[in-house]
Amino acid sequence: MKKPSARLLLDWYDRHRRSLPWRAEAEGCAEPYPVWLSEIMLQQTTVKAVGPYYHRFLEKFPTVQALAAAERDDVLSAWAGLGYYSRARNLHACAQQVVALGGFPQDVAGLRALPGVGAYTAAAIAAIAFGVPVVPVDGNVERITARLFAVEEPLPASRKTLARLAEGLNDSPEAQARPSDFAQALFDLGASLCSPRAPACGLCPWRESCAAHKAGIAATLPRKAPK
Ligand code: ADE
Repeated sequence: MKKPSARLLLDWYDRHRRSLPWRAEAEGCAEPYPVWLSEIMLQQTTVKAVGPYYHRFLEKFPTVQALAAAERDDVLSAWAGLGYYSRARNLHACAQQVVALGGFPQDVAGLRALPGVGAYTAAAIAAIAFGVPVVPVDGNVERITARLFAVEEPLPASRKTLARLAEGLNDSPEAQARPSDFAQALFDLGASLCSPRAPACGLCPWRESCAAHKAGIAATLPRKAPK
C-alpha cells in the first residue's frame, strides 16, 4: 500500500475543516487554556453537547487564573449538566496547579502529570496548543488506523499495535510542519468520512492508502472482542 500522505489529509482538512468553538480560525496554535478546557469537556461528552457549556464556562472563567481563584462550588455549578463531576474537581485542581507552575507545561510529559490529563489529552493539548508533533490516539484515530493498516486483531488486544501505527502517521515533513492541524484533521476524518458504521470511502483523501478499503472490509473494522 502507498503510505498515507499527510499532504492529502491536510489539503482535505483545509477544504472541509469543521468550525468548532475552540478551534483557532487560522492555521497555527490556539491558546492552551481553551484547548485544555475543551479537551476535558470532550473526554466523555459529544462535540455538539459541549458547545454551549464551553461558551458559558469561558464567560464565567475567562482565564486559568480566574478558574483557579474561583470557589469550588461555582466551578461545579458551571459544570452542572456535563456529568462525570470528577472532571470538574480535577479541572479546578489542575487550574490551581497550572497557576502555581506559572503556566501550562508545554510538553507531553509535563501535561500528563496534571490532574485529569491522561495520555490522549496530554497529546491533544501538546499538538493543538503547543505544536508538538505527536498524534493523539482516541477511538476515532484507532478506527482510522485499524482501517488504513487492515488490523484485524480485535480491540482491546490491538490497542498497542494501533497506537504504534498511529504514531507513525505524522512521520513526514508536511505533518511535522502542522502538528495542530494534523491532529485535528484526524479528528475530523474520524467524525465525518471514516465513521464507525458506514464510512464514506469514496470521498476519503486516504482511500488509495487504505488496506481495509482495498480489501472491502473498512466498515467491519476495528473488530471488538466479545464482552
Ligand atoms: N474530540 C476530542 N478532541 C477534539 C477536538 N479538539 N476537536 C474535535 N473533536 C475532538
